[in-house]
Amino acid sequence: MLRTAFLMAAASLCCASASSFYTAAVFEHAPLESPPEKAVARNLAVYKRAAAVAKSKHADVIVFSEYGIIPYFDRQEIRPYLENVPDPQKSDTTPCSERDTYSDRPILYTLSCIAQNHSMFVVANMGDIQKCEGEPGCPPDGVFQYNTNVVFDRKGKLLVRYHKKNLFFEYSLDVPQEEPSPVFETDFGTFATLVCFDLVYKRPSDFPKPIDGLMFTTEWLNLLPHFTSVQFFQSWAVGNNVTLLAANLQKPWQANMGSGIFHGAEGALVYAFNPDKVSKLLVARVPKTGAAKVPPKASITAFTEKDSWEHRDDGKDVPDECSSKGPYSCTNEPMSRNYTFVRLREPAGRVEACHNGFCCSLSYASNGLKEEQFHLGVFSGMYDLQNTYSWCEEECVMVRCDAAGGAACGKFPLRSGARFHNVQMRANFTAETTIYPSAVTSGMRLVQPHKWHLNRSRGATTLSLADFAGMKLTSFGMKGRCYSKDPPGK
Ligand SMILES: *[C@@H]1O[C@H](CO)[C@@H](O)[C@H](O)[C@H]1NC(C)=O
Ligand SMILES: *[C@@H]1O[C@H](CO)[C@@H](O)[C@H](O)[C@H]1NC(C)=O
Ligand SMILES: *[C@@H]1O[C@H](CO)[C@@H](O)[C@H](O)[C@H]1NC(C)=O
Ligand SMILES: *[C@@H]1O[C@H](CO)[C@@H](O)[C@H](O)[C@H]1NC(C)=O
Ligand SMILES: *[C@@H]1O[C@H](CO)[C@@H](O)[C@H](O)[C@H]1NC(C)=O
Repeated sequence: MLRTAFLMAAASLCCASASSFYTAAVFEHAPLESPPEKAVARNLAVYKRAAAVAKSKHADVIVFSEYGIIPYFDRQEIRPYLENVPDPQKSDTTPCSERDTYSDRPILYTLSCIAQNHSMFVVANMGDIQKCEGEPGCPPDGVFQYNTNVVFDRKGKLLVRYHKKNLFFEYSLDVPQEEPSPVFETDFGTFATLVCFDLVYKRPSDFPKPIDGLMFTTEWLNLLPHFTSVQFFQSWAVGNNVTLLAANLQKPWQANMGSGIFHGAEGALVYAFNPDKVSKLLVARVPKTGAAKVPPKASITAFTEKDSWEHRDDGKDVPDECSSKGPYSCTNEPMSRNYTFVRLREPAGRVEACHNGFCCSLSYASNGLKEEQFHLGVFSGMYDLQNTYSWCEEECVMVRCDAAGGAACGKFPLRSGARFHNVQMRANFTAETTIYPSAVTSGMRLVQPHKWHLNRSRGATTLSLADFAGMKLTSFGMKGRCYSKDPPGK
């Protein structure tokens, strides 16, 4: 009896630093935006409840979504929601212990108290405002306004103030002129933080030191066939062999949803992709770098303003296709109209497609494709988003798609029935290209990476998947990122 009590006490005292794993939580928030003057308080109240549940599940860190606390507005309108965030490189500050100083900054104060109360790291996204009159690049209104991630340590001290570098059509906000390091230390490893569109341009090797994981806040815009939140997050974690804690916003009518905890080459420990407008807390145990596997003890808790319950994410609510009229609206990767598509016509066979000298072939066997169309799509070149942002890709994907808008492959259904027993994709990527592999089945379910095999060699890279029962694949492929050809300054 006494011995049990002692062991239990020892187990609860024993912090993440002494064990082989840590417990991570990410919160996919369905933001409360009205009335605008109450939005911040209402969102923070949900954050507090989520953090308390995360703590009850022994979380060492909680990551919240981008735009989870403040709404996005135009430059003037957003100003009342911004808070002056001090530079943690210049002075130590613990807002929760400095109530008077922070009486007019409820966001910093509350986040710091969440960290302090629960003795956990807190990563959240907010808006920072800095006076800048007389400084170079200062806007005419005399202030810099930044999309900002803040990180607090277990004592509630501000550790990191990171200004989003790659703004995504956020014209109310400013691009930071300096690039302070987004890397920080915890008692369970070295981490970095980034915001949303940053993930398209940054890779772990861009940071000043090696990281064990990335704590990522996002309002990810789901783009088919190969840039949907959880699909790309898992492939990023696998392709870089780095842990990704990704907290997305839950706003399915705006194509935002899908979060998870992805442990490097092992892929998802837990993820959610469900268009139900309900906030979700995802928790899992993550092995520390180099440590052996542990059972993830994964869980998902759903939250509304009044209630919470345990949730099982099985993809049942994922519609046949996303549509601006339905509960879930997503959109196509704009460049997908430039892909070379070749249709899979037989139940089994081999097809090949090339684009700008980049070639990709697919050998496959299925139980019959019935009425469903599948295509092999290939692209090589600069991706372009409305003449505003661009980056380099070498892309090869087998995808369920239908003709739409004059294109043979213009609509990408989220569900399918054909079962693939064997698929092998082969492509000649440029040597420096980073490859992000992914396999997704009907209802946006992720295939775990141990099911496939990626073999990278000089002449050709192959991705193969064999499954006796057959998998209802909707997408299978490799997104290659040729970072070195991106526009300068990215
Ligand atoms: C912190 O704990 C105190 C005392 O239990 C409580 O009153 C307060 O609401 C908590 N604050 C947060 C942000 O969790
Ligand atoms: C991923 O990283 C871990 C930890 O550094 C290492 O043990 C493992 O072999 C790596 N896996 C791959 C596929 O590179
Ligand atoms: C994509 O296709 C459009 C229309 O054919 C063309 O104008 C554009 O240059 C293409 N872009 C790329 C990057 O290939
Ligand atoms: C890729 O392979 C195709 C055909 O096999 C070839 O024509 C092309 O030159 C190759 N491209 C590169 C970059 O090796
Ligand atoms: C990987 O591909 C190369 C070249 O095609 C081949 O020689 C090698 O056996 C493959 N390795 C595995 C583990 O499949």
